[in-house]
Amino acid sequence: MILIKLGGSVITDKYAYRSFDAETVARLCREIAESDQGTVVVHGAGSFGHILAKRYALNSGLVDFGQVPAVAQVQYDVRELNSRIVRALMDVGLPAVGVPPGSCFVMDDGKLDVGEAEAVKRLYNIGVMPVTFGDVVMDRKRTFGICSGDQLMEVLAKMFKPKLSVFVSDVDGLYTANPKDDPGAELIPEVTPEVLKKISADSDVDDVTGGVIGKMESMLAMCSEGSECVMVNGKVPGRLKSVLMGEETVCTRARA
Ligand code: IPE
Repeated sequence: MILIKLGGSVITDKYAYRSFDAETVARLCREIAESDQGTVVVHGAGSFGHILAKRYALNSGLVDFGQVPAVAQVQYDVRELNSRIVRALMDVGLPAVGVPPGSCFVMDDGKLDVGEAEAVKRLYNIGVMPVTFGDVVMDRKRTFGICSGDQLMEVLAKMFKPKLSVFVSDVDGLYTANPKDDPGAELIPEVTPEVLKKISADSDVDDVTGGVIGKMESMLAMCSEGSECVMVNGKVPGRLKSVLMGEETVCTRARA
């Protein structure tokens, strides 16, 4: 089985509130279907989540009740994004069902607790793809918080023990510096914890869940569970399919 996270930067325009990249999503879903591997898709929130989450500091938990309408609005927005992703997966013949973390799971001081996730396992066992996503999730200590798609990837990797976990992003992989503003930045084909420490690749847009470094940390944590992890650029046609097919392509592989 292969676990795939479609990053918010690929499926939305991170700078424009609720802008969905239907063309890219349709192509990525085709690549997933054509690869004909058993896959489970998770997706990020992009501009359907990060913009309001940042404005109302939802990642800090309950600070004042003025945040509450934003809790509902962000949950509404990311569910709408999820419906569009599920629709695109069904359009390429993949039976998919949205599993909203905010309605199914809780967090404990920022740590996701999915319990037995029995419904998720039962969907998967009959060949339906459960599609979870970054969401606002109730928290036992902080009242609520942000659950990222990366956290869900870690939990699902423990549950399904995938042979490969793929993080689909809008960059070719991890660079020695931010490639968007440093022309000297070089792609790192293989990242280890030591390599990661040396790199500053701060995300240049509002991102409440840590940007590329956070994603690489998640990837390394998942590798220690015995799974191979890859970050690949989903904006370039064919690269996701190549990774899924086990072919050589431009990407960054994580090694614990
Ligand atoms: C963020 O999820 C969830 C919210 C802000 C509600 P992710 O952190 O997985 O989203 P992307 O991939 O960075 O957009």
